[in-house]
Amino acid sequence: MGIFYGDLGLVNTEDMLAGAMKGGYAVPAYNFNNLEQLQAIIQACAETRSPVIIQVSKGARSYANSTMLRYMAMGAVQYAQELGADIPVALHLDHGDSYELCVDCINSGFSSVMIDGSHLPFAENAALTKKVADFAHARKVTVEGELGVLAGIEDEVSSQHSHYTNPEEVQEFVNRTGVDSLAISIGTSHGAYKFKIKPGETVPPLRFDILAEVERRLPGFPIVLHGASSVLPVYVDIINKYGGALENAVGVPEDQLRQAARSAVCKINVDSDGRLVFTAKVREAFAKDPKEFDPRKYLGPARSELVLMYKAKNENVMGSAGRA
Ligand code: G3H
Ligand code: 13P
Ligand code: ZN
Repeated sequence: MGIFYGDLGLVNTEDMLAGAMKGGYAVPAYNFNNLEQLQAIIQACAETRSPVIIQVSKGARSYANSTMLRYMAMGAVQYAQELGADIPVALHLDHGDSYELCVDCINSGFSSVMIDGSHLPFAENAALTKKVADFAHARKVTVEGELGVLAGIEDEVSSQHSHYTNPEEVQEFVNRTGVDSLAISIGTSHGAYKFKIKPGETVPPLRFDILAEVERRLPGFPIVLHGASSVLPVYVDIINKYGGALENAVGVPEDQLRQAARSAVCKINVDSDGRLVFTAKVREAFAKDPKEFDPRKYLGPARSELVLMYKAKNENVMGSAGRA
């Protein structure tokens, strides 16, 4: 039969995304792989009274172990309550790459899944997404699909060369599949090197014209933005100061994300910003105290800084603070 997410205290994303659409904000979807990241996400969202989607990739799930993950998610809900905040928490599979993986996640307590068929031809993407949605909806699990391709880190392509979503396809995709939300490609990309620009140049704006056309064709339908880290220079600088080598790392400016969050973009995905904060503070701790070897002494400061970064995002970028 499997485990029902409701028994873990989790919710699906339906009400969260509807609230975000109505309220002109975006629900943060933060990736995590370990205890400290999850603690920081929950503490930040509890303290800012923000709904939250905690999400794991396929790789994160095998890193953490799916049983550990289930109890971590259940613990996350209770931890928020201990902090005095009864915020809605969804556990979401990020970039699910097969029907079987989505089914396995649903059966092990996930409340939401993404099936990413964006690299497939339209008809194959739609058929796969519908198959997942049919299985998920019978168990009250919400499903995110994707149309259009984001540039990957390894591709080293600028945003101009990513494969933008074709707005003419979105209505048919949603109708055929029954998905609850749709990720689109409007110029963001995954990782810490989102745009190839020379020093002093500004990053190209996101394609808000495509977003507006998608909104016109799917009124009131929740849109998802992937690859939305801002690659905050303060953390890139700390990493480089303490022995790292992140050259020309650049992300999406916060004001553009805020603009997107006010529109039909109801879920914004952030992974890289968390990785950068964590790495910066661990590098700093190692450099400043080479004699220290208690993990709490270098993971603790990383966790504390993550809380600050996520709180600032909820308040200034997502607009989700105070919405839970
Ligand atoms: O979009 C992908 C996420 O950033 C997860 O990446 O597969 O390295 O865990 P990962
Ligand atoms: P970033 O690499 O910009 O954080 O994107 C994360 C993401 O889209 C996860 O699905
Ligand atoms: Zn993504």
